[in-house]
Amino acid sequence: MTGSVEYIRREIEAAAALPAERATTLPRQAYIDESYFQFEAETTLKAGWICLAHVSQLKQAGNFLAVDLLGEPLVVTRDKAGGIHVLSRVCPHRAMDIMPEGFDYPRAGRASKLVCPYHSWTFDFDGRLKNCPEMHQIADFDRADWKLAEIRSEIWEGFVFANLSGDAPPLAEQFADLSRLIAPWKTGELDLVIEIEWDCQFNWKVMIENWIESYHHLGAHNTTLNPMMPAKDTWAEPEHPHFVHCHLPFKQKYAAEIEQAIAGGPQPAGFPPIPGLSLAQQVEWNIYVGYPCFMLATMRDRVIWYRLLPVSAERCKLLTTTLVHAESREALEYAETLAAETKMLTDFHAEDMVVNTAVQRGLHSSYVVRGRLSHLEMPVWLIHRYLAARGQGRYPGDDLHAFGTAAE
Ligand code: FES
Ligand SMILES: [Fe+2]
Repeated sequence: MTGSVEYIRREIEAAAALPAERATTLPRQAYIDESYFQFEAETTLKAGWICLAHVSQLKQAGNFLAVDLLGEPLVVTRDKAGGIHVLSRVCPHRAMDIMPEGFDYPRAGRASKLVCPYHSWTFDFDGRLKNCPEMHQIADFDRADWKLAEIRSEIWEGFVFANLSGDAPPLAEQFADLSRLIAPWKTGELDLVIEIEWDCQFNWKVMIENWIESYHHLGAHNTTLNPMMPAKDTWAEPEHPHFVHCHLPFKQKYAAEIEQAIAGGPQPAGFPPIPGLSLAQQVEWNIYVGYPCFMLATMRDRVIWYRLLPVSAERCKLLTTTLVHAESREALEYAETLAAETKMLTDFHAEDMVVNTAVQRGLHSSYVVRGRLSHLEMPVWLIHRYLAARGQGRYPGDDLHAFGTAAE
């Protein structure tokens, strides 16, 4: 481990050991140092579960979706039996990425087989080699031995997750409490109807910290989100080893509108409500980060999911999406609502892109200080505690005293 990685680790452990009311920001190097990113990639990202797709993006046999995760070219597929796989896109013949970016090969869609463009070997959607021309003269060559490698995956509540290290504890166990919290939204049955891609010139932690704290409603979203969900009313649940959970309650005026809609009054703007939600579930947004970087928000009429793919210390790729109840698509004003909600999702994330990009730029300055966090930023401190724990091969809350001793 390099000196810079050791320094950053110790500083994060020290920050994590502080009580919430003394919490500080992390050293700026944690967001810009490539060797620390490599350390984090191994201990935190590859060792964890990263969400790659939602099942509604792969409804039919033969659907596929290319995704690049931490240098690994991957493809998520639906096979003929209905199974979902996360496969390596690296051809077992001469190592070609079978869906290279930037060369006009489709990276998502539906096909009868996967074809490597180099020598036309073809593969089934479970990775098996179907056909390989002109290999019959070759000694000891059995087609069954040559597959696209399969990456360990789990489908959780309709989301497809991959674990690159192959040895993370089962996701269903880690997210069991999260499953209970989001169960009423039946996310496995929703349809992904909006997706917007963003190439982000900032560290992946800048994104999740921004996602999970609502203190910035006061600044970045002062005219968009703050009037409806004022920063001062937002709050976070206590520490959980595998996710952060925040509540963003509506201002009384908006909560009253929902109450009237439930009683048969006019429906507020948006998609038709997701059936079966209680009043309490409808009058706030619930925001989650499932560690390391699964971002989810549940709302009255939709679920927002952000797919974050860290690339390097100062770059990540983001897909911002909206999922709705299948029947929403049959509503009379669906097309207008979809257009309005696509604009809304774009507009409020554009506000976050500005601050995140500017934070990353700020982190390069020699005048950066270790800032203090508001009580409304407790979720950021929880993320720091998670980072410190993963750097030690643990999860937060495993042993509260370990932070203090490890930093000495
Ligand atoms: S590299 Fe894929 S068929 Fe040759
Ligand atoms: Fe934001």
